Amino acid sequence: MAYPGRVIINQSELQSRIAELGVDLSRDLSHDRPILVGVLQGAFLFMADLIRAMSVELTTDFIGVASYAGGKSSGQVRIVSDLSVSIEGRNVVVVEDIVDTGLTLSYLKRTLEARHPRTLRVCVLVDKIERRKVDVAVDYVGFTIPNVFVVGYGFDYEGLYRNLPYVAALEGD
Ligand code: IMP
Ligand code: MG
Repeated sequence: MAYPGRVIINQSELQSRIAELGVDLSRDLSHDRPILVGVLQGAFLFMADLIRAMSVELTTDFIGVASYAGGKSSGQVRIVSDLSVSIEGRNVVVVEDIVDTGLTLSYLKRTLEARHPRTLRVCVLVDKIERRKVDVAVDYVGFTIPNVFVVGYGFDYEGLYRNLPYVAALEGD
């Protein structure tokens, strides 16, 4: 059995850091009318809170990528649900839940760059820096955590625990 254990980032830490990220993004993109691209499924809670912490005009879209099965990296990344609009000439902010090996994000950045956005920034909630396999630049980072598998606040284990309002370490097994 695997279950959510020790809390790694609590609810108030999440909310206050996301508020700061919203201020930073709003400052940097004040006249750019950015499109925030949430990466499904993990980033949907973060996206919802982040955009409400932003004070500038913006639009949203989502892209679905699959990179993991049952908690282990497959090294394979594919788009399972594409954007609904063109990002050509737009100021894009990719909103991702976590950078672990970096494979997903580097694939995503390459794919989106090829569509010729005006600018492309990346905002991630959690950076697991110890696990990085490929170098990928991230513009905004919420939290840096050690190499623990986390669940909650969008993070899942086999589809479960996304609905927890905090981030916890997966324990057991
Ligand atoms: P990467 O390609 O190794 O950087 O992995 C990125 C993806 O793996 C994320 O978008 C998550 O969906 C998933 N992932 C990585 N670490 C965790 C974790 O600790 N909990 C849940 N999902 C994770
Ligand atoms: Mg993800």
